[in-house]
Amino acid sequence: MKFGKILLACCLIIGAAKAEDVLKKSMSMMEQGMTQIQQGFLNNNIELIRSGSKLVDQGNNLFSDKKVIATYLPADKKHMVNVAENAAKRISLDVNVLELNLDEKAYINAANAYSDMLNACARCHSIVRKW
Ligand code: HEC
Repeated sequence: MKFGKILLACCLIIGAAKAEDVLKKSMSMMEQGMTQIQQGFLNNNIELIRSGSKLVDQGNNLFSDKKVIATYLPADKKHMVNVAENAAKRISLDVNVLELNLDEKAYINAANAYSDMLNACARCHSIVRKW
């Protein structure tokens, strides 16, 4: 019985550490991706925009599940999980819009998709940070 409890405690701790990892990994991938996209637009380096967009997409995929997102919302903001989830969905859509516009060489539209991504980051952060 005692051993069982210790085992359970260990599992919970490892589980929490893993969840923390998902957040860190996801956010740092997206941060790196956004930086690359910005540098790509500023320096007219289309390949850099593309690789940044892939990073944002991968990072966002790690943190788009409603249950995962809910874990990170403060107790008094749990009811806003749908808004937070929508921000993640918006990023995913923006990635598509950005890439399609790059294919079409519609760079202004692609840059607008990047701006919208940035707004979506802020939308979710505003909930967790009580901005
Ligand atoms: C669905 C919600 C959500 C979305 C969307 C989101 N984030 Fe986050 N982000 C969080 C949470 C939760 C934290 C941790 C709490 C905090 O830092 O306030 C965080 C923290 C961060 C951090 C700090 C990480 C650290 O280790 O302290 C960075 C950088 C970051 N996000 C980048 C981004 C970027 C870039 C985007 C958009 C491409 C983005 N986030 C979109 C929820 C989100």
